[in-house]
Amino acid sequence: MANAAGLDAFKEIHEEKAKKDGKTVKIGIIGTGWIAESHVECYKEMDDVEIVALADLVPGKAKEFAEKFGLENARIYDSDEALIAAEKDLDGVSICTYNCQHAPCAIHALDAGINVMLEKPFTVTLDEAIEVMRAEKRSGKILTIGFQPRMSENMKMIKKIVQSGELGKVYYLQSGGGRRRGIPTPFGTTFIEKETGGIGAVGDIGSYSLDMLLGAVGYPKPLTVSGYTSAFFGKDPGYYPGHPEYAEKFGVDDFAAGFVRLEGDIILDFRISWAMNMDTPGDAIILGTKGGLRIPSTDCWNGEFDKPLKIYKTVCGEEIVYEVPLKPTKNLFLEKLRAFVDAIQEGGKPTVPSSEIVFNQAIIDGIVRSAACGKEIAIDIPEV
Ligand SMILES: NC(=O)c1ccc[n+]([C@@H]2O[C@H](COP(=O)([O-])OP(=O)(O)OC[C@H]3O[C@@H](n4cnc5c(N)ncnc54)[C@H](O)[C@@H]3O)[C@@H](O)[C@H]2O)c1
Repeated sequence: MANAAGLDAFKEIHEEKAKKDGKTVKIGIIGTGWIAESHVECYKEMDDVEIVALADLVPGKAKEFAEKFGLENARIYDSDEALIAAEKDLDGVSICTYNCQHAPCAIHALDAGINVMLEKPFTVTLDEAIEVMRAEKRSGKILTIGFQPRMSENMKMIKKIVQSGELGKVYYLQSGGGRRRGIPTPFGTTFIEKETGGIGAVGDIGSYSLDMLLGAVGYPKPLTVSGYTSAFFGKDPGYYPGHPEYAEKFGVDDFAAGFVRLEGDIILDFRISWAMNMDTPGDAIILGTKGGLRIPSTDCWNGEFDKPLKIYKTVCGEEIVYEVPLKPTKNLFLEKLRAFVDAIQEGGKPTVPSSEIVFNQAIIDGIVRSAACGKEIAIDIPEV
């Protein structure tokens, strides 16, 4: 998270703004699990935000959460629907549920006229994403998807380099990164069960990796995909010391790969992993007719790298490699939620719009469907 000086500067700017605007934004939190903690910690940094309501399906969980975070005045509900039905004065909700509940919760909130910050991945299937977008259109409210790496100056630099034309015409994207051992079960099994997570590594960290590359090249539409998924580690009882029963519950993928044709004659070579016998499947790379960009693999799917970007060009016949120095990281989570609150206050646009992320979801959905039928499939994205 942000360093103290950065946080102070951030607070000063926004306290000033809050005083000027004089409007408190009322927020509800749907799902009070692990990631809801980061939402609440960030909203609590904002003087112009009040967390007025919390909901969780697990009895007692939202109340316990309220006590832990000093939110005793927040009203407590046992489902998203109960919260939305009772709270008539909400400006926005953070939807922090496991993936399978993203679509229903977002549709309920949008249909009630509430602005939505929806955690990533957008949804589990493309059909769900389309239904959420239809609700967004009906409501005219803000829907933004929770990809905080978008707020990173280093991520923005990748996009700037591509959009500047420095690389020429981009024709090939290769995703990088992935975990050697990192199936997310620190707080239970909601990520790995089909009924709650719905999809595994392909959606969980694959969606970040896709957002980084597709965002840089302007989110071209996916046309076809040949996908593969596996679950050799997730289904192995030996993977989970002390919890061999998790293997039985594992119903998603722990590794995925895909070969995707994108509009504009661009190829995406995608791979992601929660677990594999390798440190990394390589760096992310973007190849263009005038230059190439190497993005270090380290956690680059999550908005961070520890080494500079490298640009490869031929200058006066010489093969040159430039390094793009790393910029300091900010509190990306705080920035993403602040952008949501600003958009509510100012009637602005979502930072991470569904019109882009529907292509991200279409690729994830395509990989899963192609893997299931064992052949390349065409991607058909219905009109909203
Ligand atoms: N942006 C990030 O950095 C980041 C990091 C981690 C997780 N996430 C995303 O956040 C989401 C939640 O992850 P988590 O680790 O907090 O999961 P979690 O399982 O710890 O918490 C989810 C909570 O939502 C509750 N819930 C589900 N449906 C509900 C409903 N209809 N109404 C009320 N409560 C409901 C569950 O009971 C659970 O307590 C996932 O989609 C995940 O991909 C994002």
